[in-house]
Amino acid sequence: MQGMSWWSAPPCRPGKPMPQIVVDNLAKTFRVSLRSAGLWGALRGLVRRRQREVRALHGVSFQLEAGELLGYIGPNGAGKSTTIKILSGILTPDSGRVEVLGLVPHRDRERLAGRIGVVFGQRTQLWWDLPVIESFDLLRHIYRIPEGDYRRRLDELVGTLDLAAHLDTPVRQLSLGLRMRADVAAALLHAPEILFLDEPTIGLDAVSKLAVRRFIRQLNQERGTTVILTTHDMDDIEALCRRVVVIHDGGIFLDGSLGDLRRRVSGERRLIADLAEGAGEVAVAGAQVLEREGNRVVFAFDPEQTPAAELIARVAAAYEVRDLFVENPPIEELVAKLYGEQRA
Ligand SMILES: Nc1ncnc2c1ncn2[C@@H]1O[C@H](COP(=O)(O)OP(=O)(O)OP(=O)(O)O)[C@@H](O)[C@H]1O
Ligand SMILES: [Mg+2]
Repeated sequence: MQGMSWWSAPPCRPGKPMPQIVVDNLAKTFRVSLRSAGLWGALRGLVRRRQREVRALHGVSFQLEAGELLGYIGPNGAGKSTTIKILSGILTPDSGRVEVLGLVPHRDRERLAGRIGVVFGQRTQLWWDLPVIESFDLLRHIYRIPEGDYRRRLDELVGTLDLAAHLDTPVRQLSLGLRMRADVAAALLHAPEILFLDEPTIGLDAVSKLAVRRFIRQLNQERGTTVILTTHDMDDIEALCRRVVVIHDGGIFLDGSLGDLRRRVSGERRLIADLAEGAGEVAVAGAQVLEREGNRVVFAFDPEQTPAAELIARVAAAYEVRDLFVENPPIEELVAKLYGEQRA
């Protein structure tokens, strides 16, 4: 993949870094009308529309420095998209402070729009019936991008995102993977300092996911673009994010590294042992057999109770071993457990 030569160098910031994004005690509640059933309900509805409150966010606080890549995760309905919409000025919070690049998003929406990019994986921001290139051209006018900058960025984005053969295709005819790449390109034509990505890999096949991930990493590392990424794909998080914020039920559950997340959910580790042919029933003190598939046995153990070296010695003493390795439980599993516990 080519380098991103068309981006200007990130501005020098002498002294203490200022947070680029500040979210402080943010709250947002939606009011939804309840449909009344039947004629009587409809009549009653005329008199007094019944409403239900959905508390989407309450007391959410975090800060982001320029150049960070934050994974913003949580179960369905946790409030991730609501946060992204508030950060990009689409929604107005009920209370709390929000500042992006020193601007208040819902008040300075237009000024901010020129400095941020937003991709909603669930819904395209492009004009459905227009060929891709015409959407890009409209964006050039909307963002008043100088012709030379536009050409340079377009060429490079089309190259890195492999869109050249699809520029004349109407958006509605694009496959999901192509549509997503076109949306990402569209969000970057004006070279924003911050990119909000709300589920940019949803529904993509493995190859497209890797391509989108590689692109996000490159954008963050080479250009220094700040990224907030929401996703349900824990491979995205593992591949890209050093910091994760876990949100649940409208509040922040954890803000830390993937290591912090692991420790918070479970200190458990796995020992995988390939035993020689003919090993019968397997049991070792200090570990639990989690899986058995042919000669491969997966043990779960707590290294605080049984250090890995001790467990390995026990297994090797009791069985004829072909191969052994120790690993962490997959992050996917940890997060499923975490979300499950929170629901309960
Ligand atoms: N426009 C709206 N009107 C009413 N309720 C809404 C609206 N938008 C979001 N909600 C509610 O607010 C809560 C948070 O929704 P949000 O879309 O932010 O969740 P999410 O974390 O993005 O979930 P998902 O992983 O499913 O995308 C949910 O209960 C949702 O139903
Ligand atoms: Mg969402």
